[in-house]
Amino acid sequence: MLGLITGANRGLGLELVRLGLAQGDSILAACRNTDGEQMTELLTLKTDYPEFLEILQMDVTKEEEVKEAADKVRKKYGHIDFLINKAGVLFEKMKMPGDCIRDLDIDMLRRNLEVNVVGTALVCKYFIEQLYRSVCPCIMNITSEAAHLSPKGYNYPAYSMSKYAANMYTQKLRNFLEEERKELHMRIYMIHPGRMDTAMGKENAGGCKEM
Ligand SMILES: NC(=O)c1ccc[n+]([C@@H]2O[C@H](COP(=O)([O-])OP(=O)(O)OC[C@H]3O[C@@H](n4cnc5c(N)ncnc54)[C@H](OP(=O)(O)O)[C@@H]3O)[C@@H](O)[C@H]2O)c1
Repeated sequence: MLGLITGANRGLGLELVRLGLAQGDSILAACRNTDGEQMTELLTLKTDYPEFLEILQMDVTKEEEVKEAADKVRKKYGHIDFLINKAGVLFEKMKMPGDCIRDLDIDMLRRNLEVNVVGTALVCKYFIEQLYRSVCPCIMNITSEAAHLSPKGYNYPAYSMSKYAANMYTQKLRNFLEEERKELHMRIYMIHPGRMDTAMGKENAGGCKEM
C-alpha cells in the first residue's frame, strides 16, 4: 500500500511513518519544512528504507504547495491508497487567562482553523483523484476528543472549534462518497488518537511515553 501522511516529521506522524514502513507500506511523508533539526529522525528512516520512503515538502495551508506535491505524486505513482491528515496545531494553554470570550485571540483562532480545517480540506481536494484510483482507498483525519460537544468546560476554545469543524468536514466527505461514489468503498475515519506525549500533547500527557 502507498500512503501519504502529513505532519510526518515528528510526533504521531513520525510514529505512523515508522509503523507503515515496518509493516511493508510505502510512505510519502509530507512535511512543512524538509530541513532542520526536526527532520533528523525522518532522515534516518529514509536511510533505512530508501526505496519505500519519499519525503515531500508541503505546508498544508499553502494551496500552491499542496497542488505541486499532488502533481508530483500523480506523475510518479498515479495513485495513493491511504491519506492520513495528521498535521495539526494547538496554540493555547488548557485554561486561557482572562475572559474566554472578550480576550480570545482572533488571529490565533484563524491560524488554528487554517491548519486544522482548511489544511485538511486542501489536502483532500488535491489528493482525492489519486485515492479514486486506488482499489482500497482510505482517509484518516486525525481530529480530537476536544471536538466533543459538552455542556461543561471551556478548555482550548480555538483548538476545539477547529477540531469540531474538522469532524464536520470529515462527515460531509463520508456522506458525499457514500451517496455519490459508493462503488469506491472508500473508508473514511475521524480519529482521536489518545493523549500523547508530543510537543502538542505535553500538557495532558501525564504517564504517556514520550514520542
Ligand atoms: N498530542 C495529543 O495528545 C493529541 C490529542 C488529541 C489529538 N491530537 C491530534 O493529533 C495530531 C498529531 O498531533 P501531535 O501530538 O503529533 O502534534 P505535534 O507533535 O505537535 O506535531 C504537529 C505536526 O503538524 C505539523 N504542522 C503544523 N503546521 C503545519 C502546516 N501548516 N503544514 C504542514 N504541517 C504542519 C508540524 O510540523 P512542524 O514540525 O513543521 O511544525 C508537526 O509535524 C494533531 O492533529 C492533533 O490535533 C493530538
